Amino acid sequence: MSKSKKIGITGLGMYVPKKVLANKDLEKMVDTSDEWITTRTGIKKRRIVKPGTPSSVLAVEAAKRALSQAKIKPEDLEVIIVATVTPDMPFPSTACFVQSKLKAKNAAAFDIGAACSGFIYGLVIAKQFIETGLYKNALVIGVEVLTSITDWTDRNTCVLFGDGAGAAVVEPVASGGIISTYLGADGNLANLLYMPGGGSRHPASSQTVNKRMHYIKMSGSEVFKFAVRIMTDAATRAVCDAHIACPDIKLLIPHQANMRIIDSVRKRIGLKPEQVFLNVAKYGNVSAASTIMALCEAVEEKRVKKNDYIVLVAFGGGFTWGSCVIKWSY
Ligand code: ACO
Repeated sequence: MSKSKKIGITGLGMYVPKKVLANKDLEKMVDTSDEWITTRTGIKKRRIVKPGTPSSVLAVEAAKRALSQAKIKPEDLEVIIVATVTPDMPFPSTACFVQSKLKAKNAAAFDIGAACSGFIYGLVIAKQFIETGLYKNALVIGVEVLTSITDWTDRNTCVLFGDGAGAAVVEPVASGGIISTYLGADGNLANLLYMPGGGSRHPASSQTVNKRMHYIKMSGSEVFKFAVRIMTDAATRAVCDAHIACPDIKLLIPHQANMRIIDSVRKRIGLKPEQVFLNVAKYGNVSAASTIMALCEAVEEKRVKKNDYIVLVAFGGGFTWGSCVIKWSY
């Protein structure tokens, strides 16, 4: 294994469904207001799929764009990693559906479950595969159809989530690449953010349906406090391991859960507002797709250029968290 091999991102793509659900629309569904949602979360609208659209459909659209940008043919792809909490079905993996739809017949394929940290977990796995020489390239996708597990009668959660997908091709690069990574988890906090029904603990039954166990359950204020502390810690660790300092960071690209969480993290790390990328107002919280969609838009908007240092950081159900510093390669 060559430790000196530089591994980076060579192509990006994202896809969101066309239909917009604005805060004003939610006012007609639950006892809430545009003003409450905007001031407490920073979210103005989110994209939602037509009911019955599976995650793989969104994932494939994002993947095609990333492959085209990286100039990789589907048949040359060696592994597909899909991060999601809303797979098409419990098995086979959504990655297998993506592999079939892309006609990436030579690629291994599997899903990972790390909730909103899933894309960063996937990126770290892809980096290891390439570093060890097992694979030459990897496609990492973060995708969610969170509206399929959203309780539209619960104002505490239904205003937060949306649907979307982002994808990145990971390969050896001539310059820059992923400089440092950090992952963590605390399973003792699983009951603060979870979906209890449908697994082996509570298999689907009329009882689980009646008890609304197939929807996201969340203790919002506990999640909020933990998120601020752990995202600050995770970002700081990756930055220290990369041997850079705050002024060197061109852009912090955080999981887009809540504007107030992101702003608290920014202040604690000591960054200026212009050093942080935000798109939470447009898409809400898209869990595993959130960080990669934000990275895609940041690059598209030319907020990131070759040789810039960027920091990705996320936290999510589990709890899980992850961060990385990337020196941008193109
Ligand atoms: N509209 C109007 N009022 C509401 C709404 C709403 N949509 N939701 C809650 N309220 C009310 C509550 O009922 C409560 O009323 P009460 O005081 O009469 O009981 C009041 O607003 C305050 O509620 P809090 O929960 O204290 O509000 P808070 O300021 O904490 O904001 C929020 C709530 C936005 C959920 C915040 O806690 C948060 O963002 N938490 C983190 C969420 C998050 O990041 N989740 C990650 C999920 S990612 C994943 O892994 C899927």
